[in-house]
Amino acid sequence: MAAAADPQLLPQAILATKREGGAWSRAQLGALVQGGLSAAISRPQLGAALAFALCRGMSDEETVGLTEEMVNSGRRLRWPAGGGPLCDKHSTGGVGDKVSLVLAPLWASLGLRVPMISGRGLGHTGGTLDKLEAISGLRVDLNEAEAARCLDSVGCFITGQTGALAPADGLLYALRDETGTVPSIPLITASILSKKAAAGVERLVMDVKYGSGAFMRTDAEATALAESLERVGAGLGMQVRCALTPMSTPLGRTIGNALEVREAVETLAGGGDPALRALTLRLTAALDPALEAPAAAALDDGRALAAWRGMVRAQGGDPDAPLRGLDAVKQSLVRAPADGYLRRLDALPLGQAAAALGAGRAVAGAPVHPGVGLELLVVEGEALSAGQPILRVWHDEVGLEVAQSLIAQAVEIGPR
Ligand code: URA
Repeated sequence: MAAAADPQLLPQAILATKREGGAWSRAQLGALVQGGLSAAISRPQLGAALAFALCRGMSDEETVGLTEEMVNSGRRLRWPAGGGPLCDKHSTGGVGDKVSLVLAPLWASLGLRVPMISGRGLGHTGGTLDKLEAISGLRVDLNEAEAARCLDSVGCFITGQTGALAPADGLLYALRDETGTVPSIPLITASILSKKAAAGVERLVMDVKYGSGAFMRTDAEATALAESLERVGAGLGMQVRCALTPMSTPLGRTIGNALEVREAVETLAGGGDPALRALTLRLTAALDPALEAPAAAALDDGRALAAWRGMVRAQGGDPDAPLRGLDAVKQSLVRAPADGYLRRLDALPLGQAAAALGAGRAVAGAPVHPGVGLELLVVEGEALSAGQPILRVWHDEVGLEVAQSLIAQAVEIGPR
């Protein structure tokens, strides 16, 4: 084995390199990733390597090498040559963030190809796949041939990650979670970009969120992540463009699976919440400023909606069927306790409230309820009178008290 031939590739030497503040060679990164997957490097050794990487940092060159080794740990999807550029958008996760549902068909309607591999929600942020499953019959477990057919016929698909794509990321991410080493910018960069590169993406727009409801709490952290993603993307031959967007208040008017699909469809039909439409167009401009005006036109003239309907059908769903779960739940209003101005509508407790109602999950793999969630009836800064409805809660009996107390924490009413 290579590891035995070169003492620098022994696990102890790999650990010592980073512990002493050195740079990992490409061969060491390969040995780390392959050794982790084959168990030639033990879990404690891998955990220590991640901890040293978090504390000592990694150069861009090391991060490019790590990302490539993670891509090489699995399959690399290849799409037929000759179509539009292969584009994708990825968000670091927010509350009420349904932009992917709008952007994939919108970009497809402009002639781009969008092979979107998405995830499920965990904690207070929702997952695109959970949202799509509110559509009757729609499948998010497409195999490669089915995904290729969608890309060819409609220009886009949104499906789940299979274990075959960057399997090293699955291993490293789980260990990072266990060892408290998630917040390392190089490790986050490699994790995100390895999955995109393995999916064959050529041009990526990253929506890097900051604020109370986001993974990165400050805009300085978000800027550092954005710069790392752009530089490492370039090193991989992928065009990565980042937009930094605040996530201190939810995006749009809804939080919850079917409710968010309904809102995304309103935006695809040229209406919907102005903030959601604006972010959709801003992310399109980040991909290519020349596409912003055509994208606005495609939202307004029905092309984006037609692409959405095509994507839903191609994935086995019925775009005309009632969304799952909405009929099965009750609706209750939360009213303003006093006159004043809505000073704050905090994303984090609202995301947690929707999750408590059953829209999200606390542990990976748990089921979610498609119909429960929150509908925001006012926006930050609005003048309110006592008794005015500020939120509609779509719920059954699960988690209602917890959600009500979180909603009370999220809402601050006071003088202007
Ligand atoms: N999203 C990812 O895919 N990986 C990370 O490490 C963080 C966010």
